[in-house]
Amino acid sequence: MGYQIAIDGPAGAGKSTIAKLVAKKKGFVYVDTGAMYRGLAIHFLKKGIQPDETEKICKACEDAEITIKYQDGRQHIYLNGEDVTKKLREEEVGNMASLTSGIPAVREKLLDLQRDLAEKENVVMDGRDIGTNVLPHANVKIFLTASVDTRAKRRYNELVENGKKCNYEQIAADIEERDRRDMTREVSPLCKAEDALLIDSSDMTIEEVVEAVVGLI
Ligand code: DC
Repeated sequence: MGYQIAIDGPAGAGKSTIAKLVAKKKGFVYVDTGAMYRGLAIHFLKKGIQPDETEKICKACEDAEITIKYQDGRQHIYLNGEDVTKKLREEEVGNMASLTSGIPAVREKLLDLQRDLAEKENVVMDGRDIGTNVLPHANVKIFLTASVDTRAKRRYNELVENGKKCNYEQIAADIEERDRRDMTREVSPLCKAEDALLIDSSDMTIEEVVEAVVGLI
């Protein structure tokens, strides 16, 4: 069993940025579980399945093989042998992932993969239910959050930096909608594990958050 650091929290709280830096500092493997849900979402999109077609989604899970490889220190997601890493961050993929991640068959499909990784390596794993469900005995549990306004601004700046047109109000509304969905679903909703440390990063720098997490190890 490896050393396990679980970081959960809503979309845009900075989980992946923090998790990557902590992993680098400690020489741990960073596992981005959201990317796995996104990889499966690409499979559903490819098949032209609508997010509310639960039966088709359950069936489609049977012929999806998600694998993770580490290349140049970065996590790559393979869907049935194809490297889909570049497509993972597309808006459409994120929405499909959010809409389908409440389906038990989708979660079951990825659970073993996530636990296997934490069995073999020292990991920093981020997601929505890592501390509550995937790794309930994690050595360190963090619930990382930030205000909607902070998260929307970060996302807005990121898109503008990448030369994408976007609308701040729309981004903030999307974030609120995704929070609501992630927190109210029946299966493994996003919530803070009782023994997780709550960190609100709204008024903290990245370095401050990394130090706070590393200090717990
Ligand atoms: O963190 P992210 O935006 O890449 O995650 C995409 C979606 O996947 C998110 O809307 C919720 C879901 N997800 C989940 O249900 N459980 C996880 N452990 C990680 C992500």
